[in-house]
Amino acid sequence: MICKSHAIYCLHLLCSLLLLLCSCLHYCAARDTITAGNPINSTSNETLISDGKRFELRFLIISGHRYVGIQYYTWRPPEIVLVFNRDNPLPDSTTGFFGILNGNLTLWDKSGISYFSTSLGSSRSTAKLLDSGNLVVRDDQSGKSLWESFNNPTDTFLPGMNMNANLKLTSWTERGDPTSGDYIFQQNGDVRNGYIVCKSHKVYWKSKETDSFNPPLPVPLNLFNYFLLSIRLCLCHLIC
Ligand SMILES: *[C@@H]1O[C@H](CO)[C@@H](O)[C@H](O)[C@H]1NC(C)=O
Ligand SMILES: *[C@@H]1O[C@H](CO)[C@@H](O)[C@H](O)[C@H]1NC(C)=O
Ligand SMILES: *[C@@H]1O[C@H](CO)[C@@H](O)[C@H](O)[C@H]1NC(C)=O
Repeated sequence: MICKSHAIYCLHLLCSLLLLLCSCLHYCAARDTITAGNPINSTSNETLISDGKRFELRFLIISGHRYVGIQYYTWRPPEIVLVFNRDNPLPDSTTGFFGILNGNLTLWDKSGISYFSTSLGSSRSTAKLLDSGNLVVRDDQSGKSLWESFNNPTDTFLPGMNMNANLKLTSWTERGDPTSGDYIFQQNGDVRNGYIVCKSHKVYWKSKETDSFNPPLPVPLNLFNYFLLSIRLCLCHLIC
């Protein structure tokens, strides 16, 4: 008799533990995908984490201003590689939403003001944060990629990006301020495999003809620490 009730008790305990484990796993499993009608918001602290836990997309506070950006998930201090609304921070007083709105990847607030939006207007799309750090928006029906953060970088070149005539890296204004700064790195239109840095629309630095753009990967390359890496560009007036 005692033995039987004991066994039932044990079974109960085991079941409860299993349930707890399952709900924990469910709770702990972060998503990497945003579908229409399912944005992340600034009150819940929910973030997108890439499948292999390399990158995280989240609401960020930088020097007291609110942004949405992508950063390395485990690095401390965090290394921010992209800021969507760099020139348009979200006011403190409002709840922000980042997701798919009318087919556009959008950052908006509860009164409907938009702080960042792609101009896609596709009927149905899904955004997924990949382990490379690329956020890819795909059309649900065709599976075709409509927009990629790798084609719309901030100041950081990540392994897997394609340096071409359309790609521009624009520096932060200063550390702690992601607002578009004065320095722009891009391909030099008339020189094959040549690159230039413009400062306030004037050419500030020009590469010699090189074989290819071959940054020392897999280090993220951003305009402020660029000169620390093996390609010694004088980008930052602090060291020039
Ligand atoms: C979100 O994170 C902040 C700071 O870590 C914390 O103060 C707040 O309670 C969190 N909110 C929720 C809903 O978890
Ligand atoms: C924010 O997101 C959380 C988790 O997804 C959700 O429970 C909550 O209702 C959302 N808040 C708003 C204001 O939509
Ligand atoms: C989405 O983009 C399309 C195309 O540019 C535009 O017409 C539409 O107004 C946008 N929607 C939102 C909610 O911004």
